[in-house]
Amino acid sequence: MKKRDFIKTLATSSLGAGMTSSMFISACTSKPTGGEGAEKSEAVPVSTGQLLTLPDLPYGYNALEAVIDATTMEIHHSKHHQGYVNKFKAALESEGKTFTDFESLFAEASLPDGIRNSGGGHFNHSLFWPSLVPGGKAPSTGFAERISQAFGSMDELKTALINGGKSVFGSGWVWLIQDGEGTMKLTTTPNQDNPLMSWAKDIGNPLLGIDVWEHAYYLKYQNQRGSYLENIMSIIDWGVVESRLKG
Ligand SMILES: [Fe+2]
Repeated sequence: MKKRDFIKTLATSSLGAGMTSSMFISACTSKPTGGEGAEKSEAVPVSTGQLLTLPDLPYGYNALEAVIDATTMEIHHSKHHQGYVNKFKAALESEGKTFTDFESLFAEASLPDGIRNSGGGHFNHSLFWPSLVPGGKAPSTGFAERISQAFGSMDELKTALINGGKSVFGSGWVWLIQDGEGTMKLTTTPNQDNPLMSWAKDIGNPLLGIDVWEHAYYLKYQNQRGSYLENIMSIIDWGVVESRLKG
C-alpha cells in the first residue's frame, strides 16, 4: 500500500474501528471507550466545530494523583491543551484554511507551523487523556497475546515504551502504532508531531501516545522523566488502546 493511500485509509478508522476524528473527540468528552451517539464527521465549521473544542477529561483532575498530581493535570488540561485549541483555531483562521478531520489535515505534504504545532497538540492530548484511567485497566486476553507476539511480553512492551520515551530529545511523544501492514510497533515524534503526519519517520495508526513534554510531569518528577514513564504504565487503559486497533 502506498504511503498516501494508507494515510487515507486512516481517515475513518485510525482512532478505532469506524471511528472518525470528530467521533473520537466527542468520545473524549464523556465516553472514552466508545463513540455511541457521537456525530458523524462532516465538514465542520472552523468557528463552531466540536473538533475545535477542549474535550472534558473522563475523570477528575485528582483521579490520577498517585501517578500524576492534580495541579499538573489541571494546568496540563485547562491551560496547555486549551492553549493548543485556541492557537489551532487562530492558525486555521489566519491561514484561511478549511478543516474537516485531523487525518486528512495531517496527511497533507506540509502544514504551516502554527497549524502543525497547535493542531498536533490538540489531537495528541485528545488521544492521551482517555488512554489513562485510575488504577489502570489490563489488556484483554486476546490483546495481551497479540502484544506478546509483537513484543515478547506486556512487560517488554512497557519497558520499550519507557525507554522510547526517555530517548526523546527535548519535548515529544512516544507512540504505540499500527503500521501500514497492521503490525504494532513503537515510534517517537518531536514536539507535537504524531504518526499521522505525512513527514513522520513512522506513519501509522496511533494506538497510544504518551506525552513526554516536561509540562506533563515536572512538578512531581522534576528531571526524572524515567520515573514518570515507569509510573504512568500503571494507569494505562489497555482496553481503550485495544479499541483503536484496526484489523
Ligand atoms: Fe502535554
